[in-house]
Amino acid sequence: MVERVDARVQGPRGARGSSDSGSAPSVGKEGARAGAPHAPARPVAERSKAWFEVIFDEDHLRTLPQVTAASTRCEVDFLEQALHPDKDAEIIDLGCGIGRHALELAARGYSKVTGFDLSLPLLIRGADESQRRGLKVNFVHGDFRELDRREQYQAAYCLSTSFGFFDDETNRRVLQSICRSLRVGGRLLLEVVNRDYIVRGLPARLGWEGEGCLVLEEVEFNFYTSRLHNRRAVVFMDGRHIEHVISIRCYSLHELGKLLHHAGFRVLDVSGHWAHRGRFFGNDSAALIVLAERRGE
Ligand SMILES: C[S@@+](CC[C@H](N)C(=O)[O-])C[C@H]1O[C@@H](n2cnc3c(N)ncnc32)[C@H](O)[C@@H]1O
Repeated sequence: MVERVDARVQGPRGARGSSDSGSAPSVGKEGARAGAPHAPARPVAERSKAWFEVIFDEDHLRTLPQVTAASTRCEVDFLEQALHPDKDAEIIDLGCGIGRHALELAARGYSKVTGFDLSLPLLIRGADESQRRGLKVNFVHGDFRELDRREQYQAAYCLSTSFGFFDDETNRRVLQSICRSLRVGGRLLLEVVNRDYIVRGLPARLGWEGEGCLVLEEVEFNFYTSRLHNRRAVVFMDGRHIEHVISIRCYSLHELGKLLHHAGFRVLDVSGHWAHRGRFFGNDSAALIVLAERRGE
């Protein structure tokens, strides 16, 4: 039931205790609107929402047949080795979705894992699963653009291309806030699609079968903005049909490295695949998996 779930999922402005209770009030557009007495937020229905505010729900999960428990375990093996946090370290999963990595870390004995995400349906799924398995993960409802923690975490990770949804300036600011949320020496593992790999195969038309649905995509790359544009249609067996236009800023390694450096990080290593840490094969590597640490100033 909703009450039961709400008791375990924090609101966007740190309404509850545990590891996020010390958060400062939110900053940024959403926070300002919510806090301004003479400028009430427009009703949700009136605001035009960005694609990433609507797409991540139960239907989205049905389009992801490639995500398996084995692949999650492999990614968490990598996370443990790269971040090597203490078992009682504060760890944040940025854009945690249903918390598959956070839950696996909790199952391995990490006691202070926070899953941070904008999607309530996915957080609720994660919270239900954590209760079912008797695991402790602190699920927090929030927006990257309002992340306002100071030196709280020993480790952070942001996986499956959950970075790059905003315009360039906002992406930069988000990375700076992630850096500020870490202690000096704290580590970030960032995994995004490798621009130099994907551009070779674009434009493309793709199609695959999800769980009770068929997914069709037209994917293009805008070389002026370095953004991937993905027109996706999902047809469900019950006759429903949804369409989304997805836009993601894609980075080459040199550009992401500079961005991390300007945000306050030092890059420690780069991998092109979960299976071989520290090996990167240029435009043959599908992913950029970058390990970085917060520099001392
Ligand atoms: C590609 S999914 C990755 C989910 C998870 N990391 C995984 O690997 O299974 C991207 C996630 O980022 C979340 N997200 C999108 N925009 C966000 C925002 N502005 N603030 C916080 N989370 C956001 C989505 O709700 C979604 O769960």
